[in-house]
Amino acid sequence: MLQGKPILSKNKRKNSEIIDFTDGSTPILTSIMGSNVGDFMTNFKRNPYVIKGNDRILSALKDQLGDFDVETMLESSASDNYHVWLKQTSNHGNKLESIIVEDASQALKLYNAGHSLYCRAPKDLEDIVVSRCLKELNFSIGCSNSDRYRRGEIETFYSNKGHLTAFHTDFQENITIMLTGKKKWRFINSSLTHPLRGCTPHYYQSNDVAETQLKVLKLSDSMFSVNEYIDNKKNKPYEVIIEAGDILYHPAGIWHEVECIENSISINISLVGVTYAEVVSNAIQQLLLQNDKYREIVNVSHQKNALQVIQNIFDEIQSIVTGKLVPNDILTNYCFVKECDPILYISKFNSKLSISANKLRINPLASLLLVNELKELGWSENTDEDETSSTSSSSSSSSSTAPSYGTLVVHINYGNESYESLIRAEIRCDSTDQATIIYNQWLKWKQNNKVAFEVDKSGEICRVINCLLHVGVINCI
Ligand SMILES: [Fe+2]
Repeated sequence: MLQGKPILSKNKRKNSEIIDFTDGSTPILTSIMGSNVGDFMTNFKRNPYVIKGNDRILSALKDQLGDFDVETMLESSASDNYHVWLKQTSNHGNKLESIIVEDASQALKLYNAGHSLYCRAPKDLEDIVVSRCLKELNFSIGCSNSDRYRRGEIETFYSNKGHLTAFHTDFQENITIMLTGKKKWRFINSSLTHPLRGCTPHYYQSNDVAETQLKVLKLSDSMFSVNEYIDNKKNKPYEVIIEAGDILYHPAGIWHEVECIENSISINISLVGVTYAEVVSNAIQQLLLQNDKYREIVNVSHQKNALQVIQNIFDEIQSIVTGKLVPNDILTNYCFVKECDPILYISKFNSKLSISANKLRINPLASLLLVNELKELGWSENTDEDETSSTSSSSSSSSSTAPSYGTLVVHINYGNESYESLIRAEIRCDSTDQATIIYNQWLKWKQNNKVAFEVDKSGEICRVINCLLHVGVINCI
């Protein structure tokens, strides 16, 4: 169950102390769903699911969120600004209109004047809850600390009675917890599967957003209609009223309408996963970007040349798919570890190899970075062992002294537009010299595309190989 210091209190608002949200042994989903967690998992990604009256979570959140005091909660939001859903719309038919204000006190005044608000929950709450939910739902790559692959947030809705959010779909998986008041939800089936964007005809939005929504939704179904909910409404919508302490899950892509029937506050845990298409295409892009010719800017002044480069890429992709890459390069074994430590200690790995060396191969998507080089670019060592690892070796040091160990940073699969890595880990070596030796050894293996070594009486090389195997810098054939 939820424990620890409150995230918020009336005296302590922004930058409040980080909480220990759970006791560390209870999964977060169990805290939220109670004994219904198994049933919830059965319905996950399938059906809306309601749990009535989880008073324990309500009381825990009340402690954590300043007794649900609106002013306190607004001031602690992770958002830089506040969306205000205007009570009356006129210029755009029945569509909702919103304005954005930057100041919590302005948002509060507008809320008190009858408008409804949306902003994110406190960052501390998001940091703890979102990553755990993603992990427990097998909805994220376990080893990733990148925001790119740990996607989610907690939204907070402050709704006044009468506020209606008409039928729309979301692309996130959503777990709503009612904190105060009552809302009526109506659900209608949709034809969307694994949607990449929401469909929000209830909301007045820009041309860009409208075009993006429709083109992306039609990727999965060219016959998809924005108005399908109108036809589907002939089958009576499923209705449910939720109130304080109730939990409501609704899957991505389902049509839903929300009517606030009492002034209410709710939080919504909103989760997005990474697609197979994304991890594979990023990997292929990373390999293509290694080629000078494919990093060239597209030149449309010579049509024949430009098309020939694309033909060359097609040929290259064929060889990548059939020879250079194996699935285990893209999702290494490390991705499947439930609780993977982002810091690996060479000294903790076995000094014997359980695989013959000729079955080892270099992962072409892996890069090792030597910290000494990174420091030239301003990189600074995180020497706070408590923060980084609970199983650290004796090589800890204070932040005021240079560490006695050497570090290598591993990045794997980062061919996306912002070069964020699917896998990032740090390898701690016994000394900076050892780190340099490993780095040079890996460079040699990479150049020869072969893991080769001679006698290893001390077992040091085997330790290194076992570590690199663990994270996926080296794989098995
Ligand atoms: Fe929604």
